[in-house]
Amino acid sequence: MSAFDPAVFSRNSSFDFDHLTIGGVSATELAQEFGTPLFVIDEDDFYSRATAWKNALEIAFGERAGTVYYAAKAFISKEIARWVENAGIGLDVCTGGELAVAQAIDFPSSKIELHGNNKSEVEIRSAIEFGVNSIVIDSFNEIERVARISSELGKTQRVLIRVTPGVEAHTHEFISTAHEDVKFGFSLASGAAWAAILEISQHDSLQLVGLHSHIGSQIFNSEGFSVAAKKLIGLLSRYRNYFSHELPELDLGGGYGIAYVPGEVTLDPYQVLRELAEVVRDECLAAKLEIPRVSIEPGRAIVGPTTTTIYTVGTTKEVELDGGLTRRYVAVDGGMSDNIRPALYGAEYLAIIANRLPLGPNCNTRIVGKHCESGDILIRDIQLSESTQAGDLIAIPATGAYGRSMASNYNHVPRPAVVAVIDGKARVIVRREAIADLLALEI
Ligand code: LLP
Repeated sequence: MSAFDPAVFSRNSSFDFDHLTIGGVSATELAQEFGTPLFVIDEDDFYSRATAWKNALEIAFGERAGTVYYAAKAFISKEIARWVENAGIGLDVCTGGELAVAQAIDFPSSKIELHGNNKSEVEIRSAIEFGVNSIVIDSFNEIERVARISSELGKTQRVLIRVTPGVEAHTHEFISTAHEDVKFGFSLASGAAWAAILEISQHDSLQLVGLHSHIGSQIFNSEGFSVAAKKLIGLLSRYRNYFSHELPELDLGGGYGIAYVPGEVTLDPYQVLRELAEVVRDECLAAKLEIPRVSIEPGRAIVGPTTTTIYTVGTTKEVELDGGLTRRYVAVDGGMSDNIRPALYGAEYLAIIANRLPLGPNCNTRIVGKHCESGDILIRDIQLSESTQAGDLIAIPATGAYGRSMASNYNHVPRPAVVAVIDGKARVIVRREAIADLLALEI
């Protein structure tokens, strides 16, 4: 069914009699002023989610609460980095490009953590020079690189080790496996993680401060996190037994799930972190370890629900299916270039008509984009008003994470603008790309 659902739209969204309003601005006004497709981000919603994760971590872990690092990969821009700073949380960057955004606004370097499974020497150098809080080491090659570069710069770099604990979690379920067939990190089961610890301890320019794991994305319960936490605490205990002192930090990554379609429930930060804190406390008690400072890296859970994409319908058509059924195709002015997730992961979304009341009965509808490819589908099956016609505005909520950040210029389509709305005012935070921007790259 296609109807406004407050559980899926951003916090300051409402369907007021006959149109969608976000942050006090109507979808129609937004489309008229800024054009479509358009990413509309609810600024107050971003702050309240960032603050909720910060508060939830502090309540769950008390004085052992570490840092909430917002995962920039979900969506970053200079303005978003300012909001992250204002919210008092940290930033997880995984490339030199994401780091450059932080540097551009002088984001406090002591609250930045650098990730990446294949960081370049330039990226490592830039991060160390900038003074990032920590670098999460992902491979044996990198131990040598980070050690050499920090030594050249006359610094001692704080590092964590990315451990693959043999837990893989995705929507609704997790699997605990004996081995870890992934490109990231050091396997716990194979002994690679322990070998990395020993190797790092040989370098004076590296200070190992803790362990890290990230078990997956769009996870809806605490079970997978708990299993990973137990395994990492086992390694902390082995470390203490061998070195006779304790590693003070544990970073359990991101992956907290959000609602994309009606019926799904966004994970409650207070509940999931309380459950996680219980496991960490019990395990540490059993191992006679001090509770480490626990950090997390939510990306999607902070920015995902804040953003709605507004499109304009350009064409519609009906096709006959087997069994006398029909399907209506509704084509919008964006598509897989601004939201690759349905094509890439089979991700599901809700859509509503945003500029008027949906008249008449619903019909089987497929919402597609404007790209030259049949797989350019935004919503495979949805019941949408049969009155949907060219010129209507379609709103798709929960597009804040991995939408604009994974956008492409496929078919030389310029990437959409991002507009922030708050208290009835709208302002562009990332301008719409122009064809001229694309042509300017060519020599
Ligand atoms: N920390 C690390 C080390 C990560 O690799 C990730 C995501 C995060 C934190 C943030 O995860 P989140 O809280 O946003 O789930 N493009 C995919 C998601 C890829 C996630 C990659 N790593 C998607 O659109 O669903």
